[in-house]
Amino acid sequence: MARGYTAFFESRLDFTPIRRWMANKKVPQHKHSFWYYFGGLALFIMTIQIVTGILLAFYYSPSPAGANRSVRYIMTKVHYGWLIRSLHFWGANFLIAVVLVHMFSTYFMKAYRKPRELMWVIGVILFGLVLAFAFTGYLLPWTTLSYFATKVGVNMPLIIPGIGGSISRIMQGGEDVGASTLTRMFTLHTVVLPMLALVLVSLHVFLSQVFGSSVPVSQSNYKDETKFFPTFVMRDAAVWAGGFAVLIAIVTVFPADLGPKVNPVLPAPAGIKPEWYFLFVFQTLRTFPEMAAMGALTLGGVIWMLVPFLDRKSSRGEKSTFFTLFGVAVIVYTVAMTVMAYITTEVH
Ligand code: HEM
Repeated sequence: MARGYTAFFESRLDFTPIRRWMANKKVPQHKHSFWYYFGGLALFIMTIQIVTGILLAFYYSPSPAGANRSVRYIMTKVHYGWLIRSLHFWGANFLIAVVLVHMFSTYFMKAYRKPRELMWVIGVILFGLVLAFAFTGYLLPWTTLSYFATKVGVNMPLIIPGIGGSISRIMQGGEDVGASTLTRMFTLHTVVLPMLALVLVSLHVFLSQVFGSSVPVSQSNYKDETKFFPTFVMRDAAVWAGGFAVLIAIVTVFPADLGPKVNPVLPAPAGIKPEWYFLFVFQTLRTFPEMAAMGALTLGGVIWMLVPFLDRKSSRGEKSTFFTLFGVAVIVYTVAMTVMAYITTEVH
């Protein structure tokens, strides 16, 4: 019998289906169960990004005159402003790293196979959104580095024949990176992308509840299960607390940097290169003829998204060595390109 404040709701709404669902939900335990924590961790860091992002938006001013100044004000005058901005900055890097682990672990466990194809497709779009958050957020402090790195990014579509110029102009809001680019990136970063992410993450997590955790083909004779409530939730909470402790430690030892305000008439600094998560794209475009490289990267992205429909063996519950090797090849290529970009460019 419900008491106190729950009695008010329970006498009006029937919670029986939810209670039954909570009581019955189980998480399979096997050799690879460890990887189940990463989706939840991504969800937790996303929440940190939303909270710290809202707090930053109270003080941030999206104009060439105000952007750098307002971020400097946050870092030096606002109580704990440095902490909130540094959490947002490091949280973004952390989120990309965690989403990468989550993506590749679900890939190698073939969790994308029937019936979870849609979870994978939504996941690949979410990965693109997380990178788009990083790209649009990068310009906002309006520093020399953020200005010139964005210039490289918005000029990339110029490689595409025909429509490339239009795409680049739409991204910039004109012929060059300027005030319109800043308002455009700000609106994308704080309104458009969060709305899209909220819808897609909700759908992704809803589907994960409908289907439950997938079990790799190799572990199909697993014996053990854990109750989701309260055991797995408590373990999830412990992982989140651990993740937050690591984040806070990094943030306090290495607070986010704020470079000088950009002077667009000065030339781009030498050896400019993007953040670590864009290095493989940057290096691919430098190594191969640009148009072929751009085409191959786009095709690669499409194939990556369609993997659940191409890997027929996994969907039949069979071992699928080809797709395991394909995943290994993707990782080897990405890491090799990233390392090459590091060693062939001057480090800032
Ligand atoms: C913002 C990013 C993301 C969030 C917040 C998120 C969240 C989650 C959560 C909470 C789960 C259930 C727990 C788990 O199995 O880990 C899950 C499962 C899953 N996610 Fe994601 N995810 C994200 C991105 C991605 C990406 C980029 C992919 C792949 C391209 C992906 C593919 C999957 C798949 C296939 C499952 C099912 C795993 C299973 O049942 O074993 N997710 N995700």
